[in-house]
Amino acid sequence: MIDVTIQYQQEQRIFALQTKNSSYMFGINDKGRLQHLYWGLPIGVEDCASLLRLSSHSSFDAELDREAEEYSFWGGTCYTEPSLKAIMPDGVRDLSVQYAGHEITEQDGRETLVITLKDKAYPVETKLYYRVIPEYDLVERSAKISNTGDQEIMLESMQSAAWSIPYLQDYRLTHVTGKWSGEFQLRDTLLTEGKKVLESRRGFTDGHANPWFAIDDGQATESEGRVWFGALAWSGNWKLVAEKTAFSHVKITGGINDFDNSWLLGAGDTFETPVFVGGFSDGGFGRMSRHMHHYQYDYVLPNNETRKVLYNSWEATYFNVNAQDQMALAERAARAGVELFVVDDGWFGGRNHDRAGLGDWYVNKEKFPNGLGELIDRVHELGMEFGIWVEPESVNPDSELYRQHPDWVYHFPTRDRTELRNQLLLNISKPEVKQFILAFMTDLLHNHKIKFIKWDMNRTITEPGMKDHSLNRQKEVWVRHVQALYEIWSELRSRFPHVEFETCAGGGSRIDLGIFRFAEQSWPSDNTDAFDRLSIQEGYSYIYAPRTMTCWVTDSPTGMNRRSLSLKYRFHSAMMGTLGIGSNLNEWSDESIGQCAEFVKQYKQIRPLVQFGNQYRLSELKHKGVTAVQYADAAGSEHVLFAFLHSQRLGEPLPRLRLKGLVAGKCYSIDGLPGTWSGRALMNVGIELPLRGDFDSLMYRIREINEKKAGSL
Ligand code: DGJ
Repeated sequence: MIDVTIQYQQEQRIFALQTKNSSYMFGINDKGRLQHLYWGLPIGVEDCASLLRLSSHSSFDAELDREAEEYSFWGGTCYTEPSLKAIMPDGVRDLSVQYAGHEITEQDGRETLVITLKDKAYPVETKLYYRVIPEYDLVERSAKISNTGDQEIMLESMQSAAWSIPYLQDYRLTHVTGKWSGEFQLRDTLLTEGKKVLESRRGFTDGHANPWFAIDDGQATESEGRVWFGALAWSGNWKLVAEKTAFSHVKITGGINDFDNSWLLGAGDTFETPVFVGGFSDGGFGRMSRHMHHYQYDYVLPNNETRKVLYNSWEATYFNVNAQDQMALAERAARAGVELFVVDDGWFGGRNHDRAGLGDWYVNKEKFPNGLGELIDRVHELGMEFGIWVEPESVNPDSELYRQHPDWVYHFPTRDRTELRNQLLLNISKPEVKQFILAFMTDLLHNHKIKFIKWDMNRTITEPGMKDHSLNRQKEVWVRHVQALYEIWSELRSRFPHVEFETCAGGGSRIDLGIFRFAEQSWPSDNTDAFDRLSIQEGYSYIYAPRTMTCWVTDSPTGMNRRSLSLKYRFHSAMMGTLGIGSNLNEWSDESIGQCAEFVKQYKQIRPLVQFGNQYRLSELKHKGVTAVQYADAAGSEHVLFAFLHSQRLGEPLPRLRLKGLVAGKCYSIDGLPGTWSGRALMNVGIELPLRGDFDSLMYRIREINEKKAGSL
């Protein structure tokens, strides 16, 4: 049995969604529309009943209550961002929709509210889904739009949800921006009247933005203040509109991007939107992130297993892959303590560079004369699992696949086919293309003992033409690509349940809650510089969980920006997620491999905290060039702290760093330091950071001890 978290108060006509630390309320107003009432700290229905009323300002703003519609149907006086926009068979472009019923059911052990809304005259039925995740103060929302008539209806915008934010003096929007090798950079801006749009039009989630938002009053910190937030589970074109009206109503509408988008809803058909999860934290951005991390662990990811320390060959050998070098790398990786050995691009067809071979998914016999089996067996002998890179959605024009099937790619017949990284994109929603991908992946996974797939995607969509579809279905391309991708992944996961997946798109361009239903982990960036990674990893951690984040130790100076960093710094930076190594170990001395093994051993000791624990970003000393992140177990007994100094200034000692998540009355020791400390002291007085010079780092393990008396700092 689950706790009752959803209630409908018949008399007041109010739906109350209660989580551990929040309430979300909306009602059915006198016009039969769903009107948002409240979202924030826990209240009862009686506390917000008076908010359910119609309101207007003048004939120009006649139905102000529509600004707070739970799901805005475009029609009548709907002038804010619509949630649903459609064209009826007779050309009418107006939805006039009312509440028609609801049920509270249980889906996957979670209480779910399903509200049905119907148009007054047309056979359009919308079902709104609300699923409550009480322990993390989250609500999952989505919509299903059905055509219950016998003629086609054209959908032009079908959003997942609109989130109304209560009145605040200021509305600060926090989000990320980025680019190839510089993903997940945090930004914030105050909303003024009008719209701030975050979106992808590139066909995948995109490194330029990521589909989540956080709103606060401008005062929230890592550990204090109220934050409203949401993240969309969609890996294609998406749009989030943060909108403030002249009447200071703020809502965030989000879902599949309506740009160049439409969907022809046939008689009896239903369109299902992606899930948009929203949440409330009164413990600042830190609690927001921790709740989102554990939500992924408990509800989103395909499994909850420990992520292995992995080696990836990309930066070591690029396309110059062959059995001998890879076996040598594998031997060294095993000595360093690696658990999963992954061969990247270059093992197949004529793939000696990025200009040819993509699409020809057979083992290159010159590089692997005895097949992949020889390497895989060796990797297994060395005690590691084996993984491999693929990029099934793309094709080089210089490939056998393209020569045989030039029509399989997206294109417009009268236009040049834009090549990006010398490749084109396959129309994977074509049944024969989908079958081709499923067939070669099935062969690969059936004939080899492969545990892990790194699934890459290295180009955006251009010339999005689908030759086989009618004119009025052309704009479905963006959605069809993502649906087909999810179907392929889902099919592969059911055929090969033991195989795990990593999502990569030229670095971190396809990371979202949609893909994480199929992928255990991600490749957040091609930038493996350990200092650059700190800000990438910070932005990532706002919404996505540390265990999903593969981090890299690569060579120094990095190929990226020629920065030289110590092995210690590189490891500490990469130990804050799932540890990966990408250095060319064939050029490392035995001594360096030994040092590497020591860090890997340390990582394995603290891994449960990083991969399963609670993360605290300690941002107090950011202005001093210090990045500090702490991970704790659920009981607050065991912790690990990572701290990094950018550069020291003479005569400017670092202030103490205050820790978080400890138990005030407990007594702690810090590995390598003499003495003991109370949790109270560590959290309120803080510790000294012996960081010196440029790019220094430390890792402290902090553990509860049973001593009665704690010493002082
Ligand atoms: C882009 C990825 O981000 C890299 O990690 C690597 O897999 C290359 N593609 C291979 O072509």
